[in-house]
Amino acid sequence: MTNDQKLRVQVTEEIDKHKGIVEKDPHRLHYHLMPPVGLLNDPNGFIQWRGTYHLFYQWMPFKTDHGAKFWGHYTSKDLVNWQHEEVALTPAEWFEKNGCYSGSAIEHEGKLYLFYTGNVKNEHGKRESYQCLATSHDGSHFKKHGPVTTLPDGFTAHFRDPKVWQQGDRYFMVIGAQTETLKGAIVLFQSDDLIDWKWVRMLTGGDSGALADFGYMFECPDLFHLDGKDVLVFSPQGLKPDGMKYHNVYQAGYTVGVFDPTTGMYEHDEFTELDRGFDFYAPQTTVDDQGRRLLFAWMSVPDQDEQMHPTITYKWLHTMTLPRELQINGDKLYQVPVKELEDLRKGDAVVEEVLLANTIKQAERAYGQAFELLIEKMELDEGWFEMTIRHAVRIVYSSEQRVLTLERKSYVDGVIEKRQCELDHLSNLRLFVDTSSIELFINDGAEVFTARFYPSPNDDQMVFGSSSTCRFWVKRWELDKVF
Ligand code: FRU
Repeated sequence: MTNDQKLRVQVTEEIDKHKGIVEKDPHRLHYHLMPPVGLLNDPNGFIQWRGTYHLFYQWMPFKTDHGAKFWGHYTSKDLVNWQHEEVALTPAEWFEKNGCYSGSAIEHEGKLYLFYTGNVKNEHGKRESYQCLATSHDGSHFKKHGPVTTLPDGFTAHFRDPKVWQQGDRYFMVIGAQTETLKGAIVLFQSDDLIDWKWVRMLTGGDSGALADFGYMFECPDLFHLDGKDVLVFSPQGLKPDGMKYHNVYQAGYTVGVFDPTTGMYEHDEFTELDRGFDFYAPQTTVDDQGRRLLFAWMSVPDQDEQMHPTITYKWLHTMTLPRELQINGDKLYQVPVKELEDLRKGDAVVEEVLLANTIKQAERAYGQAFELLIEKMELDEGWFEMTIRHAVRIVYSSEQRVLTLERKSYVDGVIEKRQCELDHLSNLRLFVDTSSIELFINDGAEVFTARFYPSPNDDQMVFGSSSTCRFWVKRWELDKVF
C-alpha cells in the first residue's frame, strides 16, 4: 500500500469508529457544513465545475486539534444539500508531510486544478513551504504534481494559501506571506500555463504602502473583480483592538482598489472587517455560472479558545458559515445569504406584527432551535431594542448611541462577552439560527455578525424588549435538517 492509500484507510476507519458519538451531539448543526469527525478549518478550492459546486476544506480527521491537514471534500448541486466525498488530498508526500494546507481551484482545459500549500517541518524542526499542484479529470481523484514555486528572497517560510485566477490570457496567484522583517504581506506570481510560475511583486503589506506594518502575517488572500472594483480579501494576524474593531484573536476583511494586470500593481484603500461577530476567518470566494461572487468562511478563529468548544467531547470541532453572495455598494461589501437557502424553509412563514411599549421584556415565545427570522419595517424612535435568543445570545440596538451589540454567554466561562459595530439606523435584520450558531445580517447585509453559541439544547425561547415604543414585523421559518 502507498502512504496515500494507508492514510485513506485510516480516515475511513476514523469516521466509522466515531460516527455514533458524533451523531449524538445535540449541538451538531442542522444546515451548516461540518467535518464527519475531527477538526474542520478553512474553506478551500471553492468552485462550480461542470454544474456542481465543490467545496474542499482543511481537515484533521484524527483529533479535534490542528496538525497534518487533509483536504476534505463536499459537493452540491444547489448550495443547500451537500454530499461528503472521499478525501481529496492526503499529506502523503515529502513536500506536504505536515499538511496539505489551504489553497484554491481553477478549471483549465476541462480539468480541475488544485493549488495548495505543502507544509513541511524538516528534521531540524524548521518550517518549509511549497506551493503545490494537483489535477483531476473527474473531480474526485487527484494526481499530484508537486511544488510549482519556490520561496522568494525576503520572506519567511510563513508563505501559504495560493489563490489562482485567470485574467485575459494570463493566470495569477496571490499568496499570504510574512516578510523577513516580520510584517504581513501578500505576493503575486504569474503564469501562462498554470505550471511555470514567475514572481511578479509584493502586492501589499510589508514595510511600506497602505498596509505597511499591519500585523505580522496575512493568511488566505483572495483578489477578485466585483462590479468594476478589485477587492482583496485576506486574514491578517497581529492587529490590536481599536475601538469596536479587531476584538477577535485574528481578523478577516478586505480592501477595495484597482489591480493592474500588466504591472501587477494594486492601489487600494484601507482595511475593513468583513464580519463583526466572534467567529469568522479565512473566507474564500468563487464566481458561479450565474455570475455571482460567492463566499464561504470558517466559523471560528485560530487560537481563539478552540479547545474549549463542548463539541470536542463528541469528537468533532467547527463548522463553515452559510454560503453568502457578495455585493458591492460604493466601496462597501455587502453579504447576502444565497437565494437557494430559501429551500431550507419548512412551509410558509409565521408572520406577526410586534409592538413593544415602554416595557423591558415581553413574554417568551417558542421560536425553535433552527430557524430563519426576518425583522422588517422597524420603527424605533428612541431608546433601545433587544432580543434574546435561547437565553444565550442577545442582540441590542441603541438608537441613541447608534451601536449594535451582539452578546453571548462565553462557552469558556459563562461570562457575557460582546462584539459591536456602529450603525446609523436599523431597518432590517435577517437571522439564521442553527442548533449552536447564529448569523445576523443587518440592513440587507451591510453588517454581519457570525458566532457559535451553546444554548441548552431544548431551549427554543425568544424574548423581545425595548425601552420605548418599538414596532416591527417578524417573519419566521422553521428550517430543515440537511445534515
Ligand atoms: C488559516 C490557516 C492557513 C493554513 C491553514 C492550515 O486558518 O492557518 O493559513 O493554510 O489554516 O490549516
